[in-house]
Amino acid sequence: MNILFAASEAFPFIKTGGLGDVVHSLPLALNRLGHDVRLVLPAYRDVLASVDALVELGFWDLPGASVTHRVRVLQAHHEGLADYLYLIDVPSLFDRAGNPYVHSDGFNWPDNAERFTVFSRAVAQMAKGIPGTDWHPDVVHCHDWQTGLVPAFLSMFHPRPKTVFTIHNLAYDGHFSHDDFTRLALPPEWWSPEYVEFYGGFSMLKAGMVFADHVTTVSPTYAREICTPEFGYRFEGVLQSLGDKLSGILNGIDLDIWNPASDEHLKQTYQADQPWCKAKLANKNALLKKAGLVSGKAPLLGFIGRLVEQKGVDLIAEMLPALFKTTDAVMIILGSGHMSYETELVTLAEKYPTRLHVHIGYSEDLAHQIEAGCDLFVMPSRFEPCGLNQMYSLRYGTPPVVNFTGGLADTVTDASTMALTEKTANGFVFHDVNADALLAAIRRALSIYGKPAQWQSLCETAMRQELGWENSAKKYQALYKK
Ligand code: ADP
Ligand code: GLC
Repeated sequence: MNILFAASEAFPFIKTGGLGDVVHSLPLALNRLGHDVRLVLPAYRDVLASVDALVELGFWDLPGASVTHRVRVLQAHHEGLADYLYLIDVPSLFDRAGNPYVHSDGFNWPDNAERFTVFSRAVAQMAKGIPGTDWHPDVVHCHDWQTGLVPAFLSMFHPRPKTVFTIHNLAYDGHFSHDDFTRLALPPEWWSPEYVEFYGGFSMLKAGMVFADHVTTVSPTYAREICTPEFGYRFEGVLQSLGDKLSGILNGIDLDIWNPASDEHLKQTYQADQPWCKAKLANKNALLKKAGLVSGKAPLLGFIGRLVEQKGVDLIAEMLPALFKTTDAVMIILGSGHMSYETELVTLAEKYPTRLHVHIGYSEDLAHQIEAGCDLFVMPSRFEPCGLNQMYSLRYGTPPVVNFTGGLADTVTDASTMALTEKTANGFVFHDVNADALLAAIRRALSIYGKPAQWQSLCETAMRQELGWENSAKKYQALYKK
C-alpha cells in the first residue's frame, strides 16, 4: 500500500518528544512489511538544513488567515528514511529557528492556528496528487492536533484516500478561537458541536477524531482511559461516541537506534546474552564522572523528559530529600520545560551537589548515556499515552519505576514475589500518584538492587522483552487494509 504520514515532527530532523521517534520508526517498520510510506513535514529551518537532494515539485496557492499563501512542495531524501520525505515550504510560517511549536520564551507561536491549517490544507492537496509524481496514497495517516484538519479537508474530496488519525497526547488539543476559525476560512458548517466546535472555540484534535475513518491512540490502556472524565480532557464524550472507530496500538521502539549492543554514545556496549554487568558499570562510572558525581556503589537513578505536569516531575522533587536522607542513592535528571520545574530542580541540585545532577536542556547523547549508565529509571507520569523512555530503559537493563497508567501499565510488570519467581518482572509499579508512593516503590527497588542475583535476573528479563515495532506495525497494516 501507499501510505502518506503527516506530522509536525520527526527524528532525526526535528524532535521534541516521543512523537518524533514514532513518526520516524513506524514508517520504517511498515516499509519492512512491503509498504511505500512517505512522510510529509513542514519545511522548518532546521529540517531544510538537514536534508539533501532537495527537488522542487510544484506550487499551490492556499488560504491562510485572511491571506493566500504561495506553498512550495519539496521532495527530499535522507539516508535514515526508507522512502521519500516531502516538505511543505511556506517561509513566512515555518522558516524559524528552534522549537516547532513555541517561541524561545516558551510561549506558543502566535500564528500556530494558521501554520498548521495551511500545512493540513497542503497535506490534503497532496492526497489528491503530488505535482511531478504519479504517486497516490491509499491511506493518509495523521498524527496529533497539528494534522487534525487533514481528515476534515479530505472529507470534502471524492474520491479520497482513507484516513487514520493517531492521538499521541490528549493534553495538547490545538484549541483556537472563533476569530481564528473565521479568518482561516474554514467551512461555516463545521462550527458545530458535532464537528470541530469545542467549549467556545474549535479544536483541531477534535477535527481529527470526528472526520478520520479510524482513530488510534498509542496504547490499549490509554485508549480505555481517555474515554473517562479523569483522563479525557473533556473529550471523553466524543471518544466514547467513536465506539469501534477508536483503538489502542502500543508503540514500538527503534531497535537499531536504541540498542545497547551497538550504541555509539556509550562508553562500552553490552547485551543480555553476554556478560554485561561490567560494561554497564563502566557506563555508570563514565556518567557519574561526566555529571560530577562521586563514583561508588550507590545506586544511580535517572530521569529524562519534558519537565511538565504530565511527567510527575514535582513528585520526584518532593521525594528526593527523603530519599537522600534515608538511602545512599544518587540521581541524574535531564530535561527542559516549565520554568518553575527547571528552577525547583536546579535549586535542589545546588542543595545536594554530591547527590543530584540536573542538566537543563536537550541532549540525545546524554539521554542514551543515562539509559545505559543508571541502575533505575524513574518515570512517575500522572498519565502517559505510551511512553518510550521506559521502553528504552528496559532495553538497556535499567528497570523503570512507573505509575500504573497508559503505556506504562502496558509495558512494565511489577517485581511482585510471584513475578520475580516466574521471571516476568521487569520493573516497579506504584498505584497512587503521590511522592510517598513513588518513594515506597523506589525503596522496594533498592531492596532488590541489594540482592545481585535477583537484580541481574530482573534486568535480563527487561533487556529481553520484545519492544520492536513488528507486532504493532502488523496491527496498523491490518487497520489500513480494513
Ligand atoms: P513524550 O513524548 O511525552 O515526551 P516519550 O517517553 O514518549 O515522552 O518520549 C520522549 C522522547 O524524547 C524520548 O526519545 C526521550 O529520550 C526524548 N527526550 C525528552 N526530553 C529530552 C531531553 N531533554 N534530551 C534528550 N532527549 C529527550
Ligand atoms: C506523546 C506521549 C507519549 C508517547 C509519545 C509517542 O508525546 O506523551 O506517551 O509515547 O507521544 O506516541
